[in-house]
Amino acid sequence: MELSERLKKIPPYLFVELDRLKSEKLKEGADVIDLGVGDPDIPTPPEIVEVAKRALEKAENHRYPSNPGSLFYRKACADYMKRRFGVDFDQEGEVVALIGSKEGIAHFPLAFVNTGDVVLCPDPAYPVYHLGTILAGGMPYYMPLKWENDFLPDLSKIPQEILERTKILWINYPNNPTGAMASREFLQEAIKLAKRYNFIVAHDAAYVEQYYEERPLSIFEVDGAKEVAIEFHSLSKTFCMTGWRIGFAAGKRELVQGLAKVKSNMDSGVFTVIQEAGAYALSNLESLVPPLRKVFQERRDLLSQELSNLGYQFRKPLATFYLWVKVPGDLSSGEFCKRVLQELAIVITPGNGFGESGEGYFRIALTVGEERLKEAVKRLSTLRL
Ligand SMILES: Cc1ncc(COP(=O)(O)O)c(C=O)c1O
Repeated sequence: MELSERLKKIPPYLFVELDRLKSEKLKEGADVIDLGVGDPDIPTPPEIVEVAKRALEKAENHRYPSNPGSLFYRKACADYMKRRFGVDFDQEGEVVALIGSKEGIAHFPLAFVNTGDVVLCPDPAYPVYHLGTILAGGMPYYMPLKWENDFLPDLSKIPQEILERTKILWINYPNNPTGAMASREFLQEAIKLAKRYNFIVAHDAAYVEQYYEERPLSIFEVDGAKEVAIEFHSLSKTFCMTGWRIGFAAGKRELVQGLAKVKSNMDSGVFTVIQEAGAYALSNLESLVPPLRKVFQERRDLLSQELSNLGYQFRKPLATFYLWVKVPGDLSSGEFCKRVLQELAIVITPGNGFGESGEGYFRIALTVGEERLKEAVKRLSTLRL
């Protein structure tokens, strides 16, 4: 059966060759260190697990969940936004529960993008912005994130005729894969442009709680954002809950309602047990998250120091658990990562997998313990290019 035209437009998966090599290494019995995936190795805090266990015993939780999310969960989300960022959201109309933020990010364009509409997508980036755009019939316009511009898109370089056709501007700070943070000025500029050209700013804030120094900004800390923006939050990385599948979106009422309408026709909400655990996590963030942050900060400090000693070039990330590192020598990202896997049994992600502008970089995820990181550094020190 022939695939739909829509699906045919999805570019091929770039990591096929690396995945094959990794399986081969594992079959050979090699001691593979996987620094590829952004999936924390730390278990979910036990208090959250306990809340879920108790919630599982309640028969009423075994029925269909509330589609946009139970009110108690949406209230916990709105309270979180107020407590952390000082912004008010009406839990009934301006917050929607998500089955992980990926789900919301992928579905959002379906609510607002018509065939041929432009969606501004960062490059390199988490791929769901442009893939969701393509599936909705939109046209991604890629904005390069460059070292010399602190990995912020240069909005002034986007041609006027593109801005006039734009429906959504996707931004993501703290950023995957570059680890960069956004300045208030940049967020202000994005909001100003969106108002001028009448488009939506969709901010992916999946890593907003994974910071090591200054707290990153919510888009809603910028004046006027509520008139044009929606923000996607995830509990995955913040609470080491990637497998639970829970997040939320908050923002301008019409934007949240558009997304909720798409979702109400596609899924049946988040399991209420998970919402109870999620509400507990959000309400207790201030005690649950600092110990997790500390673990990642120690790993970041260790790896940053060791990679600098080896002569690698990168900006020490102020947030996220990623290091975005320049490929040494003349190798391409793909060639370098392949050699690192073949010769050292270390999995790292080639930058071009996140988009063309990622060529020349590789990404390391700090998702293994310090001993394994030290072992990875030891192996890297033997690499002769
Ligand atoms: C930038 C970014 N946004 C969103 C997500 C999706 O997170 P989840 O669907 O687990 O909430 C990820 C996951 O890796 C990510 O890196």
